[in-house]
Amino acid sequence: MSEFRLSVRHLLGIKDLTEADLHAIFRTTREFAGILERPIKKVPSLRDFTVANLFFENSTRTRISFELAEKRLSADVINFSASGSSVSKGETLLDTVNNILAMKVDLVVIRHACPGAPHLLSRHIAAQIINAGDGAHEHPTQALLDCYTLLKHLGRIDGIRVGIVGDIRHSRVALSNILALKKLGAEVRVCGPPTLIPSTVTTLGVTVEPSLDRLLAWADAVNVLRIQLERQNIKYIPSLREYARHYGIDRDRIQKLDKQILILHPGPMNRGVEITSEVADSKQAVILDQVLNGVAVRMAVLYLLAGRS
Ligand code: CP
Repeated sequence: MSEFRLSVRHLLGIKDLTEADLHAIFRTTREFAGILERPIKKVPSLRDFTVANLFFENSTRTRISFELAEKRLSADVINFSASGSSVSKGETLLDTVNNILAMKVDLVVIRHACPGAPHLLSRHIAAQIINAGDGAHEHPTQALLDCYTLLKHLGRIDGIRVGIVGDIRHSRVALSNILALKKLGAEVRVCGPPTLIPSTVTTLGVTVEPSLDRLLAWADAVNVLRIQLERQNIKYIPSLREYARHYGIDRDRIQKLDKQILILHPGPMNRGVEITSEVADSKQAVILDQVLNGVAVRMAVLYLLAGRS
């Protein structure tokens, strides 16, 4: 297993990682992916290591994926969700976390609706932190698993053309993916309703493509995002039907292309809005492979960060 030392003690965002960190994470992921194919999938790497998964916001994939990754590495695991906890009685984030840490926790995985919550914790507590999604800011392990999936299917990331479609404004997946893909040398174009594309996005080195059909004709792969209605306090689009007509990926759009492109979606999907079932369930879609790869990616991140503890 890799003895590489990450340049960071916490995984707060892709922004902080070097290109060498990214490649080390992918090399380690490949090794864990091999272990996950064996009849005995468990390794003792994180024995005597305690991880707390603190989810202050809903999750299906990320939460289960982290828990499984930790258990495959033989860590002791504590799960916390804000609903049903004393957060509803007015306890602060720091008090909640310090109470959990008093029980001798080594590493905290945190998802929180407030951008910067993991960064705040990293300045106040001794445990290592992994950001499992902070508001509309970053979702680093999602970007790592998306990039690993691209690498697995396309053989490289340097020079590939990746389109990101949808609600760029509210998407932590979009920001983390853009940062990772650009560090790895991919070309990135974004497409979506003008109200959902922040004007600052071009400062990240990406191009805005207004036409979905032109984006699909250009791309080797597209990452399709969900409209984040829960983060929209004003109306950015006239209706979901209108959105689906202009920015939804359907069979007709895919069949018009003279090539096969890879289709990714971080989930949860709104079938019939940003993607039809025919496309989501087609061979070109690698959505469930992303989920599978997520476990090995998170094992790699946990393993490499534990090596820095
Ligand atoms: N992709 C993702 O973060 O999904 P969950 O919200 O279900 O964790």
